[in-house]
Amino acid sequence: MPLVLGRTSEGKAFAMRDSCPHRGMPLSYGHFDGQTVECGYHGWRFDACTARCVEVPSLSSQDKLKVDRIFAGHYPCEERDGYVWVYMASRDRRAVDNSPDTRVPETGPDAPELPVFSKKYKITHLACELPSHVDQGIIGLMDPAHGPFVHQSWFWRSKHSIHEKQKQFEPIPYGFRMSPHSPSSNSAPYQLLKRITGEGVTTTIDFVLPNMRLEEIHSGKMWFSSRATVTPVRRDLCRIDFVAAWNLPFLPVFLFRMFGKTFLRQDQETMIKQAEGLKHDPKLMLIDDADRPAKWYFALKANLLESRRTGAKMEHPMTGPVTLRWRS
Ligand code: FES
Ligand SMILES: [Fe+2]
Repeated sequence: MPLVLGRTSEGKAFAMRDSCPHRGMPLSYGHFDGQTVECGYHGWRFDACTARCVEVPSLSSQDKLKVDRIFAGHYPCEERDGYVWVYMASRDRRAVDNSPDTRVPETGPDAPELPVFSKKYKITHLACELPSHVDQGIIGLMDPAHGPFVHQSWFWRSKHSIHEKQKQFEPIPYGFRMSPHSPSSNSAPYQLLKRITGEGVTTTIDFVLPNMRLEEIHSGKMWFSSRATVTPVRRDLCRIDFVAAWNLPFLPVFLFRMFGKTFLRQDQETMIKQAEGLKHDPKLMLIDDADRPAKWYFALKANLLESRRTGAKMEHPMTGPVTLRWRS
């Protein structure tokens, strides 16, 4: 569904279907004056926030058409952490037929918000496309075993630092959590942080349906918080959007972006190569314990779809805390 997004002169984000209700011209080819979107074909104008038509220039004094009964398709949306979240519930699909009584509700669920832990902080965004199905992108996010092979860098870790790990996981609504723990001793940045604050470092990582990985790192008053989402673009293409915020004085934005881009590029290059293999539709396997998070993801997704289908309560694939062991 193509959308046209914008911000009014008061700074409020809006999202409309990118199609004029008159004759289907994409509204994004039109003009926006900060309040109303004007179609480039016959000049119909729509209020950006309500999508209500405010003018049909061709009408003469004889015409009886009630302009304010015409709506362009529009969706509730909110801006958070530099992203515009558009609520497009599938049951509201009929909303796009533009008639006033089938418009989308004004409110949706709260838009996700990156947790931050102090007034002042730095924030930055990164994005990259992966040539794979969204499921592959998501399990890539939660995959602990590729680190030593894909993310070798002088500043992060070497292949030889691989060692056995044991992490506790617990169920959370619509997802699972790697319980707060001290991050692996083989990563240099954590050691630096520990040395600076003189306090222990704890990390918590959550995965939440449909597509979100959240990570929080705390050490004394210092914190780092990030969120990665994987959005399907096509069957064979998805996009990772990554946002991170922190109050670590020694980490300037440019430096973090340099590291972040390196990481994402490493994942991207790996998935480009993997896509070559997946073209031939090979049989795949998920092994314990390293691929257990991937198994939980598939089970969570299946259970959610099933509960939507039947209306029954969603079953969680985990019954309680679990300890997983792997080497990475
Ligand atoms: S198509 Fe938009 S005004 Fe006619
Ligand atoms: Fe990775």
